[in-house]
Amino acid sequence: MPKVLVSDPIDQSGLDILAQVAQVDVKTKLTPEELVQAIPNYDALMIRSGTKVTSAVIEAASQLKIIGRAGVGVDNVDVVAATRRGIVVVNSPEGNTIAAAEHALAMMLSLSRNIPEADQSVKASTWNRKAFTGVEVYKKNLGVVGLGKIGSHVATVARAMGMTILAYDPFISKERAAELGCSLVDLDMLFQESDYITLHIPKTSETAHLINAAALDKMKPTARIVNCARGGIIDEAALYEALSNGKIAGAALDVYEEEPLGESSLRELGKSVILTPHLGASTAEAQVNVAIDVAEQIRDVLLGLPARSA
Ligand code: NAD
Ligand code: MLT
Repeated sequence: MPKVLVSDPIDQSGLDILAQVAQVDVKTKLTPEELVQAIPNYDALMIRSGTKVTSAVIEAASQLKIIGRAGVGVDNVDVVAATRRGIVVVNSPEGNTIAAAEHALAMMLSLSRNIPEADQSVKASTWNRKAFTGVEVYKKNLGVVGLGKIGSHVATVARAMGMTILAYDPFISKERAAELGCSLVDLDMLFQESDYITLHIPKTSETAHLINAAALDKMKPTARIVNCARGGIIDEAALYEALSNGKIAGAALDVYEEEPLGESSLRELGKSVILTPHLGASTAEAQVNVAIDVAEQIRDVLLGLPARSA
């Protein structure tokens, strides 16, 4: 019987599918060395974002046929090394779209109404209504960077809240943007005109530090930025400077240059910053969707059927 290693927490619905065709070993929190040691025994590996599948892991994976990423981004997998060894990498491009979009919207509203700090203050037995006066999103400009699956859903919901959507995505047509009720603009205009900016792009060599000191300088002092896409798209040192000098008004981050977030001065910034621990895909519904989607693909490959590549 083939063997599958599940090295990050995966919903039981996915494990049940794998168990139809394989022995399933769930071993989370393996060190990189432990993963390298374990991997030669497995035909398939199922992960979320916690496991780093480096070239060293791939080198040791003598019988591995498939790596399944229960989520969208495969940036924690050395796909080039895997492909070179004939190992298929699959993902779930749509299973967590709604979860990630709703997290971005929740972050935007929480930032506008100071919800995390206000909650903490009431739980600490204080009653300070004045300190938490917020701002409305109604009639404000939302700049959406990346009008793909998640960005489109954010734009649709934000329009229903009365926001005007400016979008930047060089790979989307004017017609598609118009269908979504968005105006396609260049990045400078998006930075200058937006009251809120939300990022929904992959991290690539082109998007790394897209939000840097120069970009932050162009934004309104009242601008608030949300990143539920990938860490490293925002230059965190430049963001800290911009927030502490009042160049922009706030930021809500779900993803970081380094995860888990280590020492960071962003923690000192009080209610102008909201930090969540990479929760974009963490809904009950999304975790079932991605677990089933990826487990079915692994099952099929283990049965000798063709794979859908990530
Ligand atoms: P998608 O592929 O559907 O959309 C990405 C869009 O970005 C595409 O329309 C593409 O044309 C556009 N794009 C690419 N390069 C660009 C650039 N340089 N400038 C502007 N636009 C560019 O992807 P998606 O499913 O919407 O996911 C978006 C991001 O969200 C990914 O980075 C994904 O990994 C991340 N994500 C995070 C979480 C989380 O837990 N926080 C959950 C799901 C997805
Ligand atoms: C993704 O790319 O799907 C997300 O980052 C979510 C996750 O880590 O599961």
